[in-house]
Amino acid sequence: MTLVDGFGRSFHYLRLSVEDACNFRCRYCLPRGHHRSEADSPLSVAEIGRLTRAFAQLGFWKVRLTGGEPTVRTDIVEITKTVARTPGIRRVALSTNGYRLKTLAPDLKTAGIAAVNVSVDSLDAARFAELTGNDGLSDVLSGIDRSVELGLETKINAVLMKGLNDMEFGRFVELARERPISVRFIELMPVADNVDFFAAHHLKAEALVAWLGENGWAERARKEGDGPARTFHKNGYNGSVGVIAPYAKDFCTSCNRLRVTSRGRLRLCLFSEADHSLRSFLQDDSQAPELQERAKTLLGLKEVSHHLPEGKLGNNKNFAMMGG
Ligand code: 5AD
Ligand code: SF4
Repeated sequence: MTLVDGFGRSFHYLRLSVEDACNFRCRYCLPRGHHRSEADSPLSVAEIGRLTRAFAQLGFWKVRLTGGEPTVRTDIVEITKTVARTPGIRRVALSTNGYRLKTLAPDLKTAGIAAVNVSVDSLDAARFAELTGNDGLSDVLSGIDRSVELGLETKINAVLMKGLNDMEFGRFVELARERPISVRFIELMPVADNVDFFAAHHLKAEALVAWLGENGWAERARKEGDGPARTFHKNGYNGSVGVIAPYAKDFCTSCNRLRVTSRGRLRLCLFSEADHSLRSFLQDDSQAPELQERAKTLLGLKEVSHHLPEGKLGNNKNFAMMGG
């Protein structure tokens, strides 16, 4: 079975936030750090198990665990096991800021993680500290080394920021020279908490695409099942470069994902005005059919595209709250 929306898009990819807290203070996300505001707790392992089973039965086969910072949770390995062992789930990935990856990577791999995306916005230790409020760049880089050694598919995500890391393009792409790492640049997206920062540092992805062209990187044709990233290759590099540009004309055409927040709220789009709680359907194994009906009904509300070009950001304070 496959969930298909009113615009012919099929959904098989669940991005599940397991924790909205984060120990970093990235300037475009949580510049003042995380403050717990919601009274209820993040989904328990049992709730996550029920959610995953119900979505797997709807045809979802890929799950990404995100946050906030998912590894802030002490039960992240147990969560991973639960998700990875769910019948129908073929691929579990993790998005992390990498601060615990060095020590956690082996257990995560054993628990069933196939791929990790690690955020690294600067390769300069001082600038990294300034951008994230954390001086652990070398730990993050060791975590990346460890993941590659263990055979995890490893991607590095850097958010493009004018004047803050655009002078590092050359350095970033070198990470993809020896090893099969994919270095992906994400165009900064506006959210309620970063309006001034966005105005000062938004850099259009086209600037990077032009740089890649000038530096011998060629774009690969899109493949069936590709997400929204455009991929570039260059002779002599084992890895690749990706560009994620949410303002690009057909960014939403290839949308294949739904998001669930750490409190169990279904979010149809990063830039939605509303999300919809599924938590009351996660209290007992017998509720799977009701949960699935609710998810199908809600998918009917999914719009053809976001409204960023009209300046409508939706109801999103920051990515930590909804799982980037
Ligand atoms: N714009 C673009 N990317 C963002 N991320 C968090 N907030 C934003 C934003 N406003 C990124 C993180 C991480 C991924 C999960 O989302 O840096 O790489
Ligand atoms: Fe934390 Fe990720 Fe937000 Fe940075 S972008 S503050 S690492 S949740």
